[in-house]
Amino acid sequence: MLIRNIKKLVAVETRRRAKVAGADMGTLACIEEAFLLIKEGLIADFGPMQDAPVPDEPVIDATGRMVFPAFCDSHTHVVYAGSRELEYMDKIRGLSYEEIARRGGGILHSVKRLHDTTEEALYREALARVDEMMTSGTGAVEIKSGYGLSVEDELKMLRVVRRLKESSPLTVRATFLGAHAVPAAYIGRRTEYVDAIINDMLPPIAAEGLADYVDVFCERGFFTVEDTERILTAARTYGLGVKVHANQLSRSGGIQAGVKYGAVSVDHLDFTGEEEIDCLKQADTMPVLLPGSNFFLSQPYPPARAMIDAGLPVALASNYNPGSSPSGDMKFVLSLACIQMQMTPEEAIQAATLNGAYAMGLSDTHGSISRGKIANVFITKPVPTIEFIPYAFTSPLVDTLILNGQPEIVAGVRCGKSDGG
Ligand code: NIG
Repeated sequence: MLIRNIKKLVAVETRRRAKVAGADMGTLACIEEAFLLIKEGLIADFGPMQDAPVPDEPVIDATGRMVFPAFCDSHTHVVYAGSRELEYMDKIRGLSYEEIARRGGGILHSVKRLHDTTEEALYREALARVDEMMTSGTGAVEIKSGYGLSVEDELKMLRVVRRLKESSPLTVRATFLGAHAVPAAYIGRRTEYVDAIINDMLPPIAAEGLADYVDVFCERGFFTVEDTERILTAARTYGLGVKVHANQLSRSGGIQAGVKYGAVSVDHLDFTGEEEIDCLKQADTMPVLLPGSNFFLSQPYPPARAMIDAGLPVALASNYNPGSSPSGDMKFVLSLACIQMQMTPEEAIQAATLNGAYAMGLSDTHGSISRGKIANVFITKPVPTIEFIPYAFTSPLVDTLILNGQPEIVAGVRCGKSDGG
């Protein structure tokens, strides 16, 4: 497939980088009036139009339109049952996320509903969500468990994620998040629940190869630093990568714990000070920011500007989940990052592509326009500038999504088909 007359080819790399940090995040390499050649599902070549090959393959004319690497959304919880809009009403009336959780709502509400839902029904719900994410330009996604909180239901969730991996054209990474909340059966016995995660859940999950990563919600009212360290230690004995939900509601010590255990990412970081920034500067861990949940919970945004100015990389992800961010729209995430966290559009785009790929261990193959990478790209509708993408914050600007070299969304409509798993 040859895409010709591209108004701007965005995020090109001739020299591959695993991630982009600090001042470099503000420099986005682009080619004006470009072509992109895709062969056997990979990016074969690109450059200015005058160097375009003579087409002997299908041609897309992209006059007036830009081509971007597909978004890499490194933090989601899209396998869940039903929705939680009644809590939304509680939020409007002034209850906090923690108060709702203490009343038995929140994560534990989703746990009950997931328990009563079949694997097939869960798969269908999750598939509809990932299909919707594709319409806003997402091409790779990390999906967490964590609404099971028992051996049986965590396995059920992770089998759904495996089915999505097999059936969806998206690249999918799976994360075991048994430490998302203490389940009702273990209230007051948190340490015993951590034992169960380590002794009863991790072994079958590792044996079935159901997880790429293990994550912990290290937060006041959820899991302590000590719990986090025990779980991450166990995860590493199975050769699994690790991640941490850190500093969402307080300065929990989760960032330091993640760095200490070589986490690929620490996520949320709403409460981040100089000490945590200094700690991240010594590490290869990607700070992942989730402004959709700050928007939805009306909470202060993480200090993205201070992090980038200190030389750190940051990634952006949707955190698609029923409680704190019921949306997987990465374009809206870019808009929030720019207007609420003072990131430039160039920084936000790199955070949502190459750095998102890094946070899933995918930056060798995803996240930029680079020869030999998987051909996951989207073509915009006609747009005047790059800045227009976050600026026009509700306009659906993704026209065509190509994944693995195949068109999956055309004219904003899903055309490829998942194979049903
Ligand atoms: O990342 N913080 C923990 N987990 C999710 C929320 C999950 C839920 O409320 O259902 C988050 O925000």
